[in-house]
Amino acid sequence: MSKNLTKKILVTGATGQIGSELVPELKKIYGKENVVLGIHKRKNVDDLEDSPSTVIDVTNKNLIEDAVQEFDIDTIYHLAAILSAAGEKDPWLAWKVNIDGTYNVLEVAREKKLVKVFCPSSIAAFGPDTPRVNTPQITVMNPKTMYGLSKVTGELLANYYFYKFNVDVRGLRYPGIISNKTLPGGGTTDYAVEIFYEAIKNKKYVCFLKSDTVLPMMYMPDCIKATLNLMDAEIQSLRYHSDYNVAAMSFSPDDLFKEILKIIPDFKIYYNPDHRQKIADSWPQSLDDSSARKDWGWKPDFTLSEMVKDMINVLSKKITI
Ligand SMILES: NC(=O)c1ccc[n+]([C@@H]2O[C@H](COP(=O)([O-])OP(=O)(O)OC[C@H]3O[C@@H](n4cnc5c(N)ncnc54)[C@H](O)[C@@H]3O)[C@@H](O)[C@H]2O)c1
Repeated sequence: MSKNLTKKILVTGATGQIGSELVPELKKIYGKENVVLGIHKRKNVDDLEDSPSTVIDVTNKNLIEDAVQEFDIDTIYHLAAILSAAGEKDPWLAWKVNIDGTYNVLEVAREKKLVKVFCPSSIAAFGPDTPRVNTPQITVMNPKTMYGLSKVTGELLANYYFYKFNVDVRGLRYPGIISNKTLPGGGTTDYAVEIFYEAIKNKKYVCFLKSDTVLPMMYMPDCIKATLNLMDAEIQSLRYHSDYNVAAMSFSPDDLFKEILKIIPDFKIYYNPDHRQKIADSWPQSLDDSSARKDWGWKPDFTLSEMVKDMINVLSKKITI
């Protein structure tokens, strides 16, 4: 196992919901010239101006290899993916990007002897046979979506690369991530972001999940903290590698609505569940993250009410009505 330190990072999917907020933090820690943005389709992003960037399709291993070679990369944060709802629309693409893409990243990490790789998983890795409350770290998975299937495969593959080839690959089972910089990319928990934009702009929101659908969620600052803390942890303390449960809060659309009402009293919510309800019904309501807490000191900072206050505060300044 390499004992070298991370010096030069490639982030795949760098302009997505999580990448767009992880990249600035990585730049603060490692220096802006040492974080290379892997972008799929070139677009105007502030972060592109002062950082090296390269166009990468993760389904093409040569492009990952070339980027690692060209920029002397030693660590990859592999965030490129097709998320749950988008994956059900095009399961073939989800397979290609999530499974072939992750395999390509791991192969490049093995061949080039990279120092570390981050490959996130998701609560979507669980399925309807999984215990839904306080879902254990190790349990029945059996996901029913292509996205979930690809995430379990990614976890297993990453663990295989750790045990077989000594690739130091780490990952978290992220809950639904709530943020205010970049809109989510087609997941089942997207309602918990959209609701804030609509509450501020139009004072009403039509939710695509039922009012009592409880799901695990996390505010972006905690997502970034969990990611960086896991990547910083001493390898000897890690009992798991690519598949740590992490939790912060669990709530339903109705819980979130009531919390927003405290700040926007004339806000109204309506419910019109669609195909995403079935996906949400197959996921856990809460997670047991005691292994993450014990092994690398995981502890979230934001509660539901703190997250809601911060989201409304930030977005009220950003959104011009
Ligand atoms: N956001 C969440 O709520 C959430 C929850 C659980 C897990 N995750 C996981 O976290 C990671 C990042 O998610 P996100 O929310 O930032 O997703 P996102 O959809 O916002 O961003 C994904 C990025 O991948 C890029 N991409 C798509 N196809 C590609 C390809 N072939 N090659 C290279 N790039 C490609 C897209 O352009 C996009 O920038 C993913 O692995 C996702 O499964 C996210």
